[in-house]
Amino acid sequence: MSPLPWDSPETTRWRALPMHSVVRPTADRLPLDGSWRFQLLPTPQAPLADRWTRLDVPGCWTMQDFDDLHGVGDRPQYTNVQMPWPELPPHVPAANPTGVHERDFDIPGEWAGRRIVLHIGAAESVVIAEVNGTPVGHGKDSHLAGEFDITSASRPGERNTVRLTVVKWSDATYLEDQDQWWHGGITRPVFLYATDPLHLADVKVTATADGSLEAFLQIRTTERVLPDGWTVSGMLHTADGFAELAATIGDPADPDRISDFLGEARLCASIPGIRPWTAETPHLYDLTVRLHHPDGTVADESRQRIGFRTVEIAGADLLINGVRVYLRGVNRHDFHPLTGRVVTPDDMRADLHVLKAYNFNAIRTSHYPPDPALLDLADELGFYVVDEADIETHDHAHEIADDPRYLAAFTDRVSRMALRDKNHPSVIIWSLGNESDYGANHDAAAGWLRRYDPTRPVQYEGAIKDGRWGSPQTASDIVCPMYASIEQITAHRHTKPLILCEYSHAMGNSNGTLAEYWQAIESTPGLQGGFIWEFWDHGILQRTGDGRPAGPAAPEGAYADGVTAPGYRWAYGGDFGDTPNDGNFCADGLVFPDRTPKPAMAEHRELAAPLRLELTGDGEVLVHNRQHFRDLSWLAAEWHAVECHGGTWTAPARLPQLAPGAGAPIALPSNLLPHGELRLTLRVTTATDLPWAPAGTLVCTPQVVIREDRRDLLTRTGATLGEGPVALDTDGLLLHPLLTAPPTLGLWRAPTDNDRWGGIAARWQEQGLDALERKPVAAEREGAGTVVRSVYVTGAGAVIRHEQVITPLRDGLLIEETAVIPDILADLPRVGTVLETVPGLDTLDWYGQGPGETYPDRRTSDPVGHHRAAVDDLFTPYLRPQESGGRHGVHHLTLTGPAGSLAVHLDAPRQVSVTHYRATDLATATHHDALTPRPGCVLHLDAAHRGLGTASCGPDTLPAYLVGPGTYRWSWTLR
Ligand code: GAL
Ligand code: MG
Repeated sequence: MSPLPWDSPETTRWRALPMHSVVRPTADRLPLDGSWRFQLLPTPQAPLADRWTRLDVPGCWTMQDFDDLHGVGDRPQYTNVQMPWPELPPHVPAANPTGVHERDFDIPGEWAGRRIVLHIGAAESVVIAEVNGTPVGHGKDSHLAGEFDITSASRPGERNTVRLTVVKWSDATYLEDQDQWWHGGITRPVFLYATDPLHLADVKVTATADGSLEAFLQIRTTERVLPDGWTVSGMLHTADGFAELAATIGDPADPDRISDFLGEARLCASIPGIRPWTAETPHLYDLTVRLHHPDGTVADESRQRIGFRTVEIAGADLLINGVRVYLRGVNRHDFHPLTGRVVTPDDMRADLHVLKAYNFNAIRTSHYPPDPALLDLADELGFYVVDEADIETHDHAHEIADDPRYLAAFTDRVSRMALRDKNHPSVIIWSLGNESDYGANHDAAAGWLRRYDPTRPVQYEGAIKDGRWGSPQTASDIVCPMYASIEQITAHRHTKPLILCEYSHAMGNSNGTLAEYWQAIESTPGLQGGFIWEFWDHGILQRTGDGRPAGPAAPEGAYADGVTAPGYRWAYGGDFGDTPNDGNFCADGLVFPDRTPKPAMAEHRELAAPLRLELTGDGEVLVHNRQHFRDLSWLAAEWHAVECHGGTWTAPARLPQLAPGAGAPIALPSNLLPHGELRLTLRVTTATDLPWAPAGTLVCTPQVVIREDRRDLLTRTGATLGEGPVALDTDGLLLHPLLTAPPTLGLWRAPTDNDRWGGIAARWQEQGLDALERKPVAAEREGAGTVVRSVYVTGAGAVIRHEQVITPLRDGLLIEETAVIPDILADLPRVGTVLETVPGLDTLDWYGQGPGETYPDRRTSDPVGHHRAAVDDLFTPYLRPQESGGRHGVHHLTLTGPAGSLAVHLDAPRQVSVTHYRATDLATATHHDALTPRPGCVLHLDAAHRGLGTASCGPDTLPAYLVGPGTYRWSWTLR
């Protein structure tokens, strides 16, 4: 029996038209999206029932409510490396959900005599297409379109039927083992279009920064030969009108080729005064190329927006238009919490607007070519794109890299990506795929690419992995490691540009040491940036009632600001009963499932800011333009003068005219107070409405510290000593009318995803840090104060000596604490005080970093200032509950509400958190719907708090941010 199209890698696509980048005006297009007849079969061989249900196309059947006639029950499944089933390549399991999609449509009568093409945007993983019962072809590539010439099968002027049978699992599934949800369905638009029989088969545009332009055209006809006398023309719209392109028909070296069925033509021009394209200055020009019949009428045309730019590698530098740029990138998957993988142009635009607003300039299309609409948007808004081929064989990487049965699929996927996307100025690098080891199949694909497109570098992590950064290979022009440490990237002797294809894993409360990465990148030749893993948290909106995906029909209000409404939750691996699964490892993005930015986004925004401030020795403040291609005129700025004991007042600021890379002094506000702590924050916003943000959108908030108040706690706060005894319970714990739990020693935090996946949380548990037991030793009056000595014993028996000296103040208490951490507790989450308040203290005012969440190794964002927030809003609802809501560098805080007011001043700027959750509450809940806020507040005042790092996938925090053994002293007042 001949192999079925879904289990033989050799048959990658059947009767598919070659990929191309012709962009035709939409008039001759017939959209087929909408509600289709549908049946989900348990296997491709199962018989169809007489009855149909309906499904939206594009749409994943795994995400939609429909009548599951055959009881297949196919839900989303999440795995990372492991395949969802145990078979070996190229075999597929017998149970293989198969969606049969069918609809009728009318083909306009005017299409008679034209060439008709069926375009299937994407389907996963196999699609078998039939028109009016005639098979027209099949494809097996979940992230590129398949196009089929259906002229002879279709009936213009009549009713026609199209059937698309989508088989979920195929031999190609082994090439699509990316770390994401498995779905089934048609995920990008389906439409028909008609062309003249004489048509443009492809247009390849080369436009360089010096204004030289060439469009290479390939022409075909459905007749046997091209007619004599056909011509081409080209026109570029420029600022001052049109530029005609000069045409050459055929290959001058081989004139006979003109009369073959495939014709060639070249259109050329040199455009003076061109404005080059860069991510900062995304100038685009409209190019129209036309193919004419011998009588001069237009047979076909392609209109594209092109950009003039040059990419090259010189030594260890990647240059855009001759300039060494930093890639401040992110990895982006196609994701949507309601549709799974169907993203509209509006969704894509929203993604890119968020990225622009947070100063990203680059995207890696992990791990497959995106919808072409994304690249149009990247061209328009300005992003450097690493376009990645749809090849990830993670679970069987080694075998498949050299398996000749998969050779055709490798070259097919890589070449079709390049054939489609070659004309996008945003695409500056091709990637051969992800996590597929390195083998002959890669070199074959790279070889094709290098010949086809010498204008762009090629990268592939697999070719340089395991530290083989310097070894000769032919698949990667860029050293593009994943999750390398700062030490590794700075120690390497660079002969090629090093750009991390993945780093700073954004799982949960993460992205610690991002600032140190950028310090290293900006100070080490050969380092040019990287792509944070990743943009989205892939949490699917789930109805908690029936456990189904809420789907595209979810009501408005089912979620907002990253939080789900009652009756819903963000689901991760395992939540749909999916086995095997990899839990919440899919929730590792910089934005929540609804695209609400997580706090780490603010960190990136500041690190990637277009300008920076520098305070010189003589008290002058310099502004540095950190951009590569433009001045600061698109920005507006305002000073915020922040006084520790006063307030904040604003003053206008004037940004200097600065060329890229230049610096100059900026005038400071006048009338600054001559004494007391003083900081100046420059609040920088967009000056005018931009395509991606309205005027006034925050761009960065650099701060300089003019003076710090280093006086001791009591002098600084003006507190005076009081008299009388301190109220203690029989165990020596403080009694206070506004506290429900007295201040005690806290050593533990609810493990972050990094703590958990990195393994340190398990050690904390072994040591019993989550089960600290306090044993009072003594409480006695000493001088004005009472000394309370205790020992704390961890679950595993480690002993910590702790002392609180509590001294009455005229209006409160001074609490001075000492903790001696034994050597056995080598790596702690925190050392500090924890206490709980009565309900009714709902608002927090603080002077410290804010307004957003910050941690010791993620605190470039959110400068010190006076802030106010509802306690509820301080907490960050990371998908799996964990330590969250911290604020770094807090000097003092006040909780107020109907219950009264409680003020805490700290001896030094400290890490603080105020939430309605105990660490144990957070550690035991797996989802937010299982979390009940406590009525009062839980306060942590930390003498030391461990950094966040990125150990869920990559390096832990740096040694400077660890909390180890030794003596800790901290004090605070409670008033
Ligand atoms: C990388 C991989 C990504 C993702 C990430 C962890 O190894 O390329 O797809 O799995 O790790 O979240
Ligand atoms: Mg992987």
